[in-house]
Amino acid sequence: MTAPLARPLADPACFDPDRFASHGYPHDIWTKMRADRPVAWHDDGVREPFWAITRYAEITAIGKDSDNFISSPGVTILRKDQMVADNTPRVPLMLTMDPPEHHKNRMILRERFKPSVMRALEEHIIARCGEIADDVAAARVAAAQGDDVIDFVDAIAMRLPLDVILELLGVPTDDRDQMYLWSNAVIGSEDPEYGSVDLPREAIVAAQQAMFGYFARFIAERRKAPREDLVSLLVEARIDGTPLNDMEILGFCFLLAIAGNETTRNATSGAMLALIEHPEARRTLTQDPSIMTPAVEELLRWVTPIVYMARTATRDIEIGGQTVLAGEKVVLFYPSANRDETVFENPFSLDFARRPNRHLTFGFGRHSCLGNDLARIELRAVLNEILTRFPGIELAGPVSRLRSNFVGGIKHMPIRLEP
Ligand code: HEM
Repeated sequence: MTAPLARPLADPACFDPDRFASHGYPHDIWTKMRADRPVAWHDDGVREPFWAITRYAEITAIGKDSDNFISSPGVTILRKDQMVADNTPRVPLMLTMDPPEHHKNRMILRERFKPSVMRALEEHIIARCGEIADDVAAARVAAAQGDDVIDFVDAIAMRLPLDVILELLGVPTDDRDQMYLWSNAVIGSEDPEYGSVDLPREAIVAAQQAMFGYFARFIAERRKAPREDLVSLLVEARIDGTPLNDMEILGFCFLLAIAGNETTRNATSGAMLALIEHPEARRTLTQDPSIMTPAVEELLRWVTPIVYMARTATRDIEIGGQTVLAGEKVVLFYPSANRDETVFENPFSLDFARRPNRHLTFGFGRHSCLGNDLARIELRAVLNEILTRFPGIELAGPVSRLRSNFVGGIKHMPIRLEP
């Protein structure tokens, strides 16, 4: 099929990983695209071409329409030179399934992530935050003679989400640092520090293989002696009466280990940075912790750690005045939707009194985030702990950002706990 000629073109800067690394989100570009070409064709010759969707209305319309826009051809945009055909079997991931498989797979986990189960974990999560703050305080005392600058990401933000997801899976939290490295290599595959600018796919495959080897041990153990954890749940699960095979279980473990930590870590660092950059908002929250729930919603809107998810059109279909052809990808820019001025009043102001706050940080539609209740509990707990224990926390140097157009990552954020 020939593509119609008159396609409005996306500004390439909307998806340039180097720009994400040096400047953070290209909100100025997205804002312009929302105004004059909300459905725009992106083809930089390097990556798979796609339609860039920047407005809330079209993003929710596509998210809702899982008949015409599917996930199984992949929800990320790959570099063409990395799209090598090989015979390695693709590990099944719920994230890239369509109905009816998607629903059957999601049902396995749904009960374990429902709000009441997550609420029962809250006390434990709060206690974990206390331990993290104790460790940070102890490290600070030990370093009191020298420089007391610490990396917020390593010392605080990365810990809680990893500890919680590893505990839920039923694997030792002692392996947290190892999991952190693997997960950084997968999500930061195009980053020079975590992955490889030239060979990102190799970085992902190596980390993925290592994670599979790691989880395989626990799957074998739980097959013999199941416990209460998620690995045991997966070992005992049935789809249409058939147990999951090892690859299917590995897919779940991999997805949960990555999704359960990268996003919440970056939401935590991004939220703390936003509070440091908005002293007025921070003061309001410190003086009245009862607004923590709406404050976290607004911080989630503000930060939006996942840049996009892609879908593929199953037929020629009109969206926002453009015709998307069957087989073409659409990229849903969630942070742009969360600044859409037709939905959010003064979208560039951080406003803890914002109501309603229907942000798309957790996506929209049948794939919307399974771990959203858990992430919200973790964020409330960790922010509350930091603001209470370290009220003087301030930035002690420039933040360094991940070279990625998929996750808005903060790699390092030097802070001083007291001025
Ligand atoms: C602030 C933290 C988080 C953010 C911003 C976030 C964001 C997202 C988004 C945008 C999606 C939608 C994918 C799509 O549209 O295709 C998603 C899906 C998912 N998330 Fe999260 N997530 C967070 C935390 C978590 C946590 C803590 C867990 C698990 C413990 C988790 C597990 C999942 C899973 C399993 C899916 C796939 C759901 C499906 O395909 O049906 N997430 N997340």
